[in-house]
Amino acid sequence: MFQVENLLKDVQLTGDAVLKIQDVFLTELENGIHEKPSSLQMENTYIPELPDGTGATNFCCGSLVGYLSGTITSIRNWLRGIVVKYTSLGVPEEGLFLALDLGGTNFRVILLELYQGSVVREEVKHYHIREEQRLGCGEKLFDFLADSVSDFVRGQKLTGTRLPLGVYCSSEYKLIGTRLPLGVNCSSEYKLTGTRLPLGVYCSSEYKLTGTRLPLGFTFSFPMIQKALNIGLLVTWTKSFNCPSVVGRDAVNMLQEAINRRGDTHVEVVAILNDTTGTLVQGAVLDPRTTIGLILGTGSNACYLERADRVQHWEQQRHGEKQVIIDIEWGAFGDNGTLDFIKTDFDRIVDKNSLIANSFMFEKYIGGKYMGEIVRVILARLTKDCLLFGGETSDTLLTSGAFTTSFVSIIEQDTIDDTSENTVEILRKLGLSCDEDDVAIVKYVCEVVSNRAALLVSVCLSTLLSRQDRPDVTIAVDGSLYKYHPRLKGWMNKYIKLLAPGRKFQMLLAEDGSGKGAGLVAAIALKLRKRLQDS
Ligand code: BGC
Repeated sequence: MFQVENLLKDVQLTGDAVLKIQDVFLTELENGIHEKPSSLQMENTYIPELPDGTGATNFCCGSLVGYLSGTITSIRNWLRGIVVKYTSLGVPEEGLFLALDLGGTNFRVILLELYQGSVVREEVKHYHIREEQRLGCGEKLFDFLADSVSDFVRGQKLTGTRLPLGVYCSSEYKLIGTRLPLGVNCSSEYKLTGTRLPLGVYCSSEYKLTGTRLPLGFTFSFPMIQKALNIGLLVTWTKSFNCPSVVGRDAVNMLQEAINRRGDTHVEVVAILNDTTGTLVQGAVLDPRTTIGLILGTGSNACYLERADRVQHWEQQRHGEKQVIIDIEWGAFGDNGTLDFIKTDFDRIVDKNSLIANSFMFEKYIGGKYMGEIVRVILARLTKDCLLFGGETSDTLLTSGAFTTSFVSIIEQDTIDDTSENTVEILRKLGLSCDEDDVAIVKYVCEVVSNRAALLVSVCLSTLLSRQDRPDVTIAVDGSLYKYHPRLKGWMNKYIKLLAPGRKFQMLLAEDGSGKGAGLVAAIALKLRKRLQDS
């Protein structure tokens, strides 16, 4: 075991290293926010406030004081790119919204029904994105997204949907007893076919959503330069995507053009956001103390609520915003060399085998896409050095990606339960025969790698807590790694307390933040339009 521990010593961060990482993170964060060279993008999301627990209605009120005190021209500049079309919309935070959630190998199209700023109904459909779509021509990827949006919308019926202004569809789609606009009451023979409902919602003869104008919030979980709430230029792909022709282009525009090319739905992309932003927004609905959004899934990243006067980069003229959500994009933390002191030979191999080498190294220490791979690389090395499995490797152990992060979680659970059953079974499936010592070593490797990830995330979160300087902060978290790894939460709680002494915080699982948050942000975008229109 001594030799094993020795080989893994660089994966275990010393106290000095941890403090140095914290310093570097703060410096990079400050540089990024002041538009100085930095590995942290610190992107302005143009979302100036959070829900206060009473729903999306109040989301932008504070800033609107600012918008409204400016001239119409400056308001227009602020909202550049958002073209006012929904002239008949009166209460945009109520009604039907679409959300599209793109980030992993599956993506989701979601129909959200909002009532007074809360999600009262959610319909979801998952679509698988094939490898050639993730790695090929960008237009084809966006055509596929548009096809899926169309498939979803065509498959949705209005049955049971609460339409705006109190109009309900019965299961027979009749308007029996409904008071129509202008005081007309329907007899039992009136149906919705061809009836113009308030707020621009039309039922086709099949009572489907096809003819309905639907605003869409696009959760695009990749680094982007945001020029407005509905303009996001892709900086680089991460995780399992690499369609070169999209880099530098506006993902909203590409999606809208693809939807328009199909021409069979009335979907309009009104907002683009990162999954961390969606998680923060959704978290704030659940708990108003939420000011940090964290994703620990295939990839990793966080966003937080920053004081607006500390933010240098505003594409548009400001209108009295007091705060704004900043997307840190910490996956790239240290890509400028500032964190090279923690990079081990194992990490270098993982990076080299990854889809986009030499980039997003911090994410490769943490993300679910990579954690299992780090363990695999270490196990392969230990086997090669005859410290494991009697020096007998297997083809699977030598195959990149064969040891998934879900294995790490299962093995960690064995450690907690003080059993070895599942670990032995995993190793057997990988074609490895093991004895008790081997099992102990494999468990140890999983622990060391997982613990480093927990520590790195905690270093960054504790820095944010100190910076925000609030009496009580809730960190909204989502992502498969956080949900399924049995030890991360406990470690993070412990390390954050140590690294940000005296700071009161709690972590809150904000499931489906990227879906629900997208619906809420789409509602906000419409709310802003409406205010602009009314002003
Ligand atoms: C992306 C981030 C995203 C994170 C979590 C990273 O690869 O760059 O934008 O928030 O994954 O999905």
